[in-house]
Amino acid sequence: MDFLKKYNVELHQYLEKAVAQKEPNQLYDPIKYILSLGGKRIRPKLTLMICDFFGTDFKKAMNAALAVELFHNFSLIHDDIMDNAPLRRGKVTVHEKWDVNTAILSGDAMLILAYQFFESYEPKMFQELAKLFSETALQVCEGQQHDMDFETRDDVILGEYINMIGQKTAVLLGAAMKMGAIVAEASKRDKEIIYLFGENLGIAFQLQDDYLDVFGNPETFGKQVGGDIISNKKTILYILAINSSTQAQAEELEHLFSISPKDATDKIATVKEIFIASGAANATQSKIEEYSNFAYALLDEITISEEKKQLLRNFGNDLMQRNV
Ligand code: IPE
Ligand code: IPE
Ligand code: MG
Ligand code: MG
Ligand code: MG
Repeated sequence: MDFLKKYNVELHQYLEKAVAQKEPNQLYDPIKYILSLGGKRIRPKLTLMICDFFGTDFKKAMNAALAVELFHNFSLIHDDIMDNAPLRRGKVTVHEKWDVNTAILSGDAMLILAYQFFESYEPKMFQELAKLFSETALQVCEGQQHDMDFETRDDVILGEYINMIGQKTAVLLGAAMKMGAIVAEASKRDKEIIYLFGENLGIAFQLQDDYLDVFGNPETFGKQVGGDIISNKKTILYILAINSSTQAQAEELEHLFSISPKDATDKIATVKEIFIASGAANATQSKIEEYSNFAYALLDEITISEEKKQLLRNFGNDLMQRNV
């Protein structure tokens, strides 16, 4: 998307300089590494974009945007340890390239670095940003713990799953956008609505991530396809499949999601077939649309121009195609 270019260029420059290379290398090299792998950088772009859309120079939101991106990268380093993931952004994960202890400490340092970026804001704005950030970060931890708990549970229901992804993923998108609105000193109502927009889009985004974890193209996904099946994650696909498959298929799924074979090739293939045959794969796509549309409907209520609302809808649609 062309209009994103101006944010991309600036963001790239600031991110390059965001973390000074200091001693010890073992602490800072993994931070440089994960940041150099890039990723889509949707969260900081959203912070800058929303600040811009509410009529303030987007550079004022740069430090908040950097804080959000550092936090996100910290959460990925720790998430990859928790999920035993070998690949991130098409490259080997930090805990595999170095080791788990290094990944823990570099991640911790990134969280602190993230907080430091708020120090440049005046006390009132600093307080509002830091408060939102702390609340959000704690919710992400809660979501991550539920995600882990679900691996060994066999009775996870759709509502619990949606709450879990709301916490681990969606609140950060909501907060990233709200931070842009805070810096732009938008009205209380606009701040609330933009947060809800981000939260609903974030739910759609995580549903899509869960879908791609099973059906994504290994060449472009950048993560291990089938990783959620290997870890017995009770994602939307599993929950919808259990609800709509035959008794025999449901029993097979329950069994497959209670074992951890060394070679998971057959398990992944069978689970994929059931996800398709039960209609869960298609139903997941409908859910993605449902949450995206919830998000778009919220835009009716915010005080930005129709043209900018359309840019946000386009961003959402591109995001669901992973074209951002
Ligand atoms: C990965 O987020 C974690 C999820 C919430 C699904 P992204 O898909 O935004 O990861 P990068 O930053 O673009 O690599
Ligand atoms: C992402 O969940 C949530 C956080 C990183 C906080 P996932 O575990 O699905 O993310 P990926 O698929 O590893 O990027
Ligand atoms: Mg993961
Ligand atoms: Mg995870
Ligand atoms: Mg995932």
